[in-house]
Amino acid sequence: MLVSGKEILNHAHENGYAVGAFNVNNMEQVQAIIEAAEETNSPVIIQASQGGLAYAGVEFIAEMGKVAAKNASVPVAIHLDHGTDFKQIMLCLRNGFTSVMIDASHYELDENIRKTQEITEMAHAVGVSVEAELGKIGGTEDDVSVDEKDATYTDPEEAEKFVRETGIDYLAIAVGTAHGPYKGEPKLDFDRIKVLKERLDMPLVLHGSSGVPEESIKKAVSLGINKINIDTDIRMAFHKAVKEFVSKNPDVYDPRKIVGPARSAMKEIIADKMRMFGSKGKAWK
Ligand code: G3H
Ligand code: 13P
Ligand code: ZN
Repeated sequence: MLVSGKEILNHAHENGYAVGAFNVNNMEQVQAIIEAAEETNSPVIIQASQGGLAYAGVEFIAEMGKVAAKNASVPVAIHLDHGTDFKQIMLCLRNGFTSVMIDASHYELDENIRKTQEITEMAHAVGVSVEAELGKIGGTEDDVSVDEKDATYTDPEEAEKFVRETGIDYLAIAVGTAHGPYKGEPKLDFDRIKVLKERLDMPLVLHGSSGVPEESIKKAVSLGINKINIDTDIRMAFHKAVKEFVSKNPDVYDPRKIVGPARSAMKEIIADKMRMFGSKGKAWK
């Protein structure tokens, strides 16, 4: 069942749990996500980055997502992750994405507000939900890299103004996570999550969530995180399974035999995350 991002995340916000938003670049990842969501009876968000769309093609990702959502027994949203390019965001709207992220977090506040407002007005006009980011999350996404020391946490005062003036549906906050693998253990600013939730009273998004310990994830969810982005952990599960298969079976050249076990490995880790996030059993008809 294909639904808007807002429908999924408002339900999570009202019922105190988080939904996984998993990055996809190919068919096996889409299938792994849907299988995990059906097994755990979880609502779910399939998302693609601009790099993912450049790799697979906007239409391919959109159509795969729509076929998967149409046949799924659980609510599914299709989301653009870290959209920075106006044309690509428009292409996503045109191709049936039900949620887009406009990431203008690298600009000053006023310019971030202006760019976010522009996209929000257009997306809302065609019933598509909008995520935006305030503060700077560390690590690399697409071509933009933010050194962890340059990451800036989301300011609650600014966040209130940002949400009021842009009309977005959910906000990505910078509270100590970073994209990609962690060198040490990430330390989340839980007090900041709590204050942001109290002041904004809307769905909040945690990026860079691969490698964050279960205890921290659960605490972040209990304080108001409703969308949790995972990419790196899925990539690693894929890599490990392919590597293992190829090293044990160096002469097998059938792609289905090589990538099939990786699809199962990705499904396992995704289903595990869904249980951790509290979305298990939360799907509706
Ligand atoms: O936010 C970052 C995601 O992991 C996307 O990564 O731009 O390499 O597809 P990517
Ligand atoms: P990770 O790759 O660190 O899980 O981050 C994913 C993400 O935030 C996508 O927007
Ligand atoms: Zn991200």
